[in-house]
Amino acid sequence: MSTNQKINGPRLWDALMAMAEIGATPKGGVKRLTLTEVDKAGRQRFTQWCEELGLTMRVDAMGNMFARREGRDPQRLPVLLGSHLDSQPTGGKFDGALGVIAGLEVMRSLHDLNITTEAPIELVNWTDEEGSRFGHSLMGSGVWAGIFGLEEAYGFTDLDGVNVSQALDSIGYKGPHPAAPFPADAYFELHIEQGPILEQEGKPIGIVTGAQAQVWYDAVITGQDAHAGTTPPSARRDALVAAARVIALVDEMMRARGEAGRGTVGQLQVLPNSRNVVPGEVRFSVEFRHPDDAELARLMAEFPQAAEAAVAGSGCRLEVTKLFDMPAQPFDPACVDLVRQAAARLGYPAREITSGAAHDAVYVARRVPTAMIFTPCKDGLSHNEAESILPEEAEAGCQVLFEAVVARANR
Ligand code: GLV
Ligand code: MN
Ligand code: MN
Ligand code: MN
Repeated sequence: MSTNQKINGPRLWDALMAMAEIGATPKGGVKRLTLTEVDKAGRQRFTQWCEELGLTMRVDAMGNMFARREGRDPQRLPVLLGSHLDSQPTGGKFDGALGVIAGLEVMRSLHDLNITTEAPIELVNWTDEEGSRFGHSLMGSGVWAGIFGLEEAYGFTDLDGVNVSQALDSIGYKGPHPAAPFPADAYFELHIEQGPILEQEGKPIGIVTGAQAQVWYDAVITGQDAHAGTTPPSARRDALVAAARVIALVDEMMRARGEAGRGTVGQLQVLPNSRNVVPGEVRFSVEFRHPDDAELARLMAEFPQAAEAAVAGSGCRLEVTKLFDMPAQPFDPACVDLVRQAAARLGYPAREITSGAAHDAVYVARRVPTAMIFTPCKDGLSHNEAESILPEEAEAGCQVLFEAVVARANR
């Protein structure tokens, strides 16, 4: 594969900035929550760009979008590439969008360069990677890969009581194609690192060898609503004080694992949330992550009992429900090697890296040989409106993506 086939860096950057206008926030980030009207607008812009290139768009029953470019050999399985267009509530311009828009730039470059690959190529926008609305990250790719059932996912409900089925209907993205795995030759996903390693080491490319293990829980603590002025300490059953003990426990359990540990309570609902009522109920999320499956298993074995012990004596009741857990996922050595070779050929300094974040690639990897490419991001910051990358970093990542995808499709 010749390295004089260049993607168009300025065009890639323009498309990233155009997508970032959809759901733009005053602080320079993006709020494009999954299956909202803003997400719909992003999907429509993406569809328009794909159709201008003559790609054929399919939408499946989970709203996953596949834009296909035919290859020379109709017998060959497609090479997939993509990521997600949904964002966190205070998300950045690049988490997810980089992989989809860089995939679009790969398609545009193939078109400009008049290249017909041997295998077809399909560009994917997975539904609800973030999980911040319905409590399950990697939802579209999870259903596609058979991790969750379609009906199960349709029943996941947001804090306003809207379920996934209703949300898909309301934006018109419950497509006619089955949300189930189809045979594919490979999957490549470009993403920002979302952490500090590549930037600290001055490496423009991360060769991602796999992703770490994680588990998500819902916790509910029930005490008793009571008057703030009249209820003495001995009579209180304060659910928020009990929750605070569990939150501190999650942090302690993380820190006991050293720098590799991760433990977060990111979502909290206090009821009735009135300043002169002792809170009677608190609902919150808990997640743990670790690169080592055995260590995550220890966290999972320890947490429910330790949390029970933390609330003991508070007069409150604790209920912990596990939403899902996923083991560490290694990527396919041959696909990873195509990324390594592409970076070397192009002369980009690169290093191998394990993903701390979850990605659709983790579930896709259970069905299709998969690899990921990381670019650095400023100060390692992500899930933050200030998330930022340089145009030349996007261009380098996209060029590596182009080379890896074309090499696979022409093998
Ligand atoms: C999603 O972005 C995650 O890594 O949790
Ligand atoms: Mn992402
Ligand atoms: Mn994210
Ligand atoms: Mn993620």
